[in-house]
Amino acid sequence: MPNIVAICGSLRKGSYNRMVMNQLPRFAPAGMTIKEAPSFAELPHYNADIQNSAGFPAAVNTLADAIRAADGVIFCTPEYNFSLPGALKNAIDWVSRLPNQPFAGKPVAIQSASPGPVGGARVQYDLRRMMVFLDALTLNKPEVFIGGCAAKIDDKTGEIKDEATSKFIAQQLEAFAKFIALHGGKV
Ligand SMILES: Cc1cc2nc3c(=O)[nH]c(=O)nc-3n(C[C@H](O)[C@H](O)[C@H](O)COP(=O)(O)O)c2cc1C
Repeated sequence: MPNIVAICGSLRKGSYNRMVMNQLPRFAPAGMTIKEAPSFAELPHYNADIQNSAGFPAAVNTLADAIRAADGVIFCTPEYNFSLPGALKNAIDWVSRLPNQPFAGKPVAIQSASPGPVGGARVQYDLRRMMVFLDALTLNKPEVFIGGCAAKIDDKTGEIKDEATSKFIAQQLEAFAKFIALHGGKV
């Protein structure tokens, strides 16, 4: 069964997306393991001069190695100004410059949570577009947009208390396991 690395697009401690990410193992099909990706919080802004003088920051290689070693990647990310949070975009930009770029051929699934009504739908399309350029294999459906997340997640315990949301997540993880198997990953 597949081992999955999960990337949270939010850096804040009380992040709803982090709560969703932390809950994923509860909804995963039997045998699927999900662990958090190494942190990208301290990465400098991408600058080719850094890459060409000091080389890639160690955290870039650590993140890329975790992605390469995984059978799939799940993003749980907020939407910032209808697009990706800058820190997440920056982390993807850094790893994308590595030889043996880690997203190439990698199964990817996307989830987003927002207190707003649309649940981060627009960040998902920008992230999908980036994954096209990086030649990842992004799962189309089922989509997971958690709108109005403040009412669906208990911010004291981090638990998802909305049944429909729990069901969508479980269905996506089930579909993702099949998608990975279809593309030659572990069953
Ligand atoms: C810079 C910034 C831009 C935001 N833009 C959007 C947006 O475009 N769409 C949206 O649904 N929420 C937007 N929000 C609200 C976030 O969805 C909300 O802060 C959410 O809790 C962030 O995710 P997190 O809880 O995982 O940190 C924005 C928040 C910030 C800080």
